Amino acid sequence: MANQRSVTITDNATGKSVECAVLEGQYGAPVIDVRKLYNELGMFTFDIGYGSTASCRSAITHLDGEQGVLLHRGYPIEQLAEHSSFVEVAYLLVHGELPTANELAEWEHALKMHGMTHEHLSRFYSGYRYDAHPMSVLTGVVGAVASFYHANTDIYSNDDRLATARRVIGKMPGLVSKIYRYQSGLPFVYPDNARGYVENFMYMMYSWPTEPYVANPVAVRALELLMILHADHEQNASTSTVRLAGSAETNPFACIAAGIATLWGKSHGGANEAVVTMLEEIGDAKNIRRFVDRAKDKNDNFRLMGFGHRVYKNYDPRAKIIRKACHDLLEDMNLNQPLFEIAMELERIALEDDYFIERKLYPNVDFYSGLIYQALNIPTAMFTCMFALARSAGWIAQWNELMSDPDFRIGRPRQLYIGAAERDYVPLAER
Ligand code: SDX
Repeated sequence: MANQRSVTITDNATGKSVECAVLEGQYGAPVIDVRKLYNELGMFTFDIGYGSTASCRSAITHLDGEQGVLLHRGYPIEQLAEHSSFVEVAYLLVHGELPTANELAEWEHALKMHGMTHEHLSRFYSGYRYDAHPMSVLTGVVGAVASFYHANTDIYSNDDRLATARRVIGKMPGLVSKIYRYQSGLPFVYPDNARGYVENFMYMMYSWPTEPYVANPVAVRALELLMILHADHEQNASTSTVRLAGSAETNPFACIAAGIATLWGKSHGGANEAVVTMLEEIGDAKNIRRFVDRAKDKNDNFRLMGFGHRVYKNYDPRAKIIRKACHDLLEDMNLNQPLFEIAMELERIALEDDYFIERKLYPNVDFYSGLIYQALNIPTAMFTCMFALARSAGWIAQWNELMSDPDFRIGRPRQLYIGAAERDYVPLAER
């Protein structure tokens, strides 16, 4: 490979070697292209949890875990959080560039035009128990949307993929708000297209049939900020699930449903709900040390929810922004939130503790977000639905990028087999 940077992998048992190209991106670690490894060396790579594995090439989001950097299409998350809107960030993720005024107006109009769902879809909610976990409902109803957009969606048509992106982003606010309405015994609310995207969601969540609904602009801005911060995050577990499902040429709504199912786990998006449950369990600052000690105890499977990250070995840039937004919101709304005080004291104690310092465990996006959702009267059980609402923009942008990759092929990992050697069947009478 003249002039091509490469690494050589040699099997010292056979002396056989294979030279693998090293591919370099705009930022981040270069990658070793091991696609020919099995054919030339008869071996697989082994990487449980994919800590050292790049599953794809992507131009959407870049993370620098050491520096705590997050870029969407090259734009720093801090600048998008301060100057942009969720609808504009969703456009950026899907299209790759910030929209002009006309493009933004057309995009916003298209999302509104896709804000409704087939009336029959509303019947799905009543099939759930009144107290079903909202993420189980969201997984089901988003999967059900696939039944309305299947035969008429050509996943190999760029136009159809962009239409799908508008449908997913346009419909998620209605799908999520209906969960709250159903579980609250309230009638479903149709979108009001005179309202902006985030305000419309709050209208569909909280409006009262007999009263005019006036949104609190401070609350709308706080939710808009959270949605910007949750929109995309490189190849996390749920995005990787969406990509793997998409690689099988699955219906895109079914791919998003698979992503929602993955996000539900408390190691991933479910952590925002688990953080508030943990803070409520701590109950008082005097109990913090006991919980920190439990988190350090290898015999206790308790972990500090909202702490640690596979990529960030520095403060999650989103958590920094959310912590300040949480402080400002509580002040603006004149809310006394004892859990926020406990969270800040827990952060202080943990960040001074060698266990967390040595392992580079910092607050992540989920540590403070739940406290803002709580201040916005969102039920704790719906916090991860809020994460999914925002992340649907990133998921569908990543799906679209996967489907337009010239090297598109089905994802099919291999394994290290450690099971029984071949043996003959033993008849029941002889066992
Ligand atoms: C999200 O990937 C993404 O980008 C995800 C996300 C996104 O936007 O999509 O950012 C959203 O999912 C954020 C993470 C939310 N999850 C939590 O807050 C749950 C608590 N965190 C942990 O479970 C954990 O930190 C993970 C799951 C987030 C990361 O796990 P890793 O990378 O597999 O880390 P690890 O288990 O290898 O931990 C390394 C060490 C271990 O100790 P040792 O074996 O070295 O002694 O750190 C310890 C772990 O025990 N550790 C923790 C801890 N997290 C890691 N110890 C106590 N409390 C914790 N929270």
